[in-house]
Amino acid sequence: MSRTARVGVLVSGRGSNLQTLLDAAADPWFPADITVVVSNVPGAFALERAAAAGVPALTIDHRGRGRAEFEAELLAALSDVDIVCLAGFMRVLTPGFLNAFPNRVLNIHPALLPAFPGLHGPAQALAAGVTQAGATCHLVDAGVDTGPILAQGSVPVLPGDTEESLAARILPLEHRLFPLGLRWLAEGRVTVTDRRAQVALQPGESRWLSFSPPA
Ligand code: GRF
Repeated sequence: MSRTARVGVLVSGRGSNLQTLLDAAADPWFPADITVVVSNVPGAFALERAAAAGVPALTIDHRGRGRAEFEAELLAALSDVDIVCLAGFMRVLTPGFLNAFPNRVLNIHPALLPAFPGLHGPAQALAAGVTQAGATCHLVDAGVDTGPILAQGSVPVLPGDTEESLAARILPLEHRLFPLGLRWLAEGRVTVTDRRAQVALQPGESRWLSFSPPA
């Protein structure tokens, strides 16, 4: 993209991932601007974060209307954006929406995909007895958390972990991966071939982040 990418962020809840994107975009050197935030949940705290950052925010409630109508309203709200980020957005988007943004919809997921897609990634990891959990930043396709992977990172699963404690360990990783993926996409450094992503990395960059324990 030859100009600063315009980004719309879809949210459903507290919006900590939205906050990391807003914080990243506050840096004048970041290659993307967050230009609109849309929540499908009225009153979501993420809307307050958008307002605090001076970013236009609106609610498009998915309830009481069909999926096609809901997505048409979303598309209208996003008519001026280049990239869409799903930051804790709890609705599945159909090809009717995704085709408007080919390989331009980015998601953050709290698991090491392709393991544990869908809801409750950390709980799925605990139930499976894995020793490493993690997060994935990926492009969105018509499946549930099946799109091309841009970046991943892992954290250990520790004895006595609960869904909450593991999710809390994963969250800081999400907050590092999401702005990274957005940067690469906005800078036009991502290509997709055969449903796999390639990233033109710069020196010192990696598509894999490892756990750094709190200082
Ligand atoms: C995150 O764990 C995200 O990976 C998942 O939902 C959670 C949203 O958290 N899809 P937040 O709203 O960004 O704080």
